Amino acid sequence: MSRPRVFVSRRLFDDTLAMLAEHADLDVFEGPGGPSPEELAARARGCAGVVVQGTDAIDESFLDAVPGLRIVANVAVGYNNIDVEAAAARKVVVTNTPGVLDEACAALTWGLILGITRRLNEGERILRAGRWEGFALDFLLGTDLVGKQLGIVGMGRIGQNVAAKALAFGMRVAYLRSPRRPDEQLAGPDGTPYTPMDFETLLRTSDIVSLHVPLTSETRHMINRRTLPLMKPTAYLVNMARGPVVEEAALVDALEQRVIAGAALDVYELEPKVHPGLLRFENVLLAPHLGSATRETRTAMCNLAARNVIEVLEGRPPVTPVQGSYVDG
Ligand code: 8YV
Repeated sequence: MSRPRVFVSRRLFDDTLAMLAEHADLDVFEGPGGPSPEELAARARGCAGVVVQGTDAIDESFLDAVPGLRIVANVAVGYNNIDVEAAAARKVVVTNTPGVLDEACAALTWGLILGITRRLNEGERILRAGRWEGFALDFLLGTDLVGKQLGIVGMGRIGQNVAAKALAFGMRVAYLRSPRRPDEQLAGPDGTPYTPMDFETLLRTSDIVSLHVPLTSETRHMINRRTLPLMKPTAYLVNMARGPVVEEAALVDALEQRVIAGAALDVYELEPKVHPGLLRFENVLLAPHLGSATRETRTAMCNLAARNVIEVLEGRPPVTPVQGSYVDG
C-alpha cells in the first residue's frame, strides 16, 4: 500500500519531521512567511494530512480543493484560522496543541505585566539611546502589583496559569464569569478564591486586564470604544490572546486621550502589521507574537501536532481534537 502524503506548511523541528517521515511522505514548504492560500491548496492536494500554523486559513475553498484530506493539525492552541464546522462536514479531523504551551504563555504574560508596570521598555530605550543621566529617586517610577487586582478575561488553561502566578505577586484575581458556567467558582492552587465578575465590573475594578480568550464572533473587538473607557485611568491592558479581540484603532485613541495607563501586546489585528499609532507611545510594550516561543514549548507543540497526524492516518483517534471536530471511529 502506498504511504499517505502529508503537507507541512512551515518547517518544523528536524526531530518532528523525522517522526512524521516514518509514517508518511512529506512535502515541507521552505519559503519565508508560509504559503499563499493558492499554494497551500495546490501543495496539499492529494495529501491525507496537513500540518499548519495559525497564519494558514483552512476554509471551505481549501477543504474543497483537497478531497481525501483526513486531518488538519494546527501547531497552535488557537484555531480561529480553521473552519471546524466545514471540516467536520467533510469528515476531516481538526486538532490543536492545548496544554503544552500554558507555562510559556503564562510566563510571557507576566513578562508583559512586569515590563509595562515597571517601564522596562522605556528604560531600555533611554539607556540604549545614551540618554540615561544616572540614578534619580523619581526616575521612571512604575506601579506596584501587590494588593492590586488582576482581571482575567478567558479562564482557560492559560488564564488559570496566569492567575496562579498572580498570587505570588500578592494580587487579587478577578475573572470573567463564563456564561455557560455561571455558578463556577474558581480558586488558586492553594485554595485562594478568585472572584467571578461580569465583563463591565471586571473592567471597572481591575488594575490589569489580561486577555486570554479564543477569537470568536463574540470576542472579536470586545475591547473597543465603548469598553475601553470603563477601565480605570490607572489600569493596563494586556493582550496575549488574538489581535482582533482588541479594536486597535480604539486602543490608539484611548491611549492618546489617556483613558488607560498603558498596554502590553503580544498579538495584533493584522499581523505582522502593527497599527502605526501604537508605535508612538512610550507606555505601550509590543512583543512580536512570542507567547509560546520557547524551544521546549514549540518542540512540544510540533511533536503533539505530529502525533495527531500519525494517530489519525493510522486509524486511531486524534490525541487533541478541537471542540466540534469530526473524530474518526
Ligand atoms: C502559535 C499561538 O505559535 O498557540 C497559539 O494559539 O498563538 C502561538 O502559540 C502561533 O499561532 C503559530 O501557529
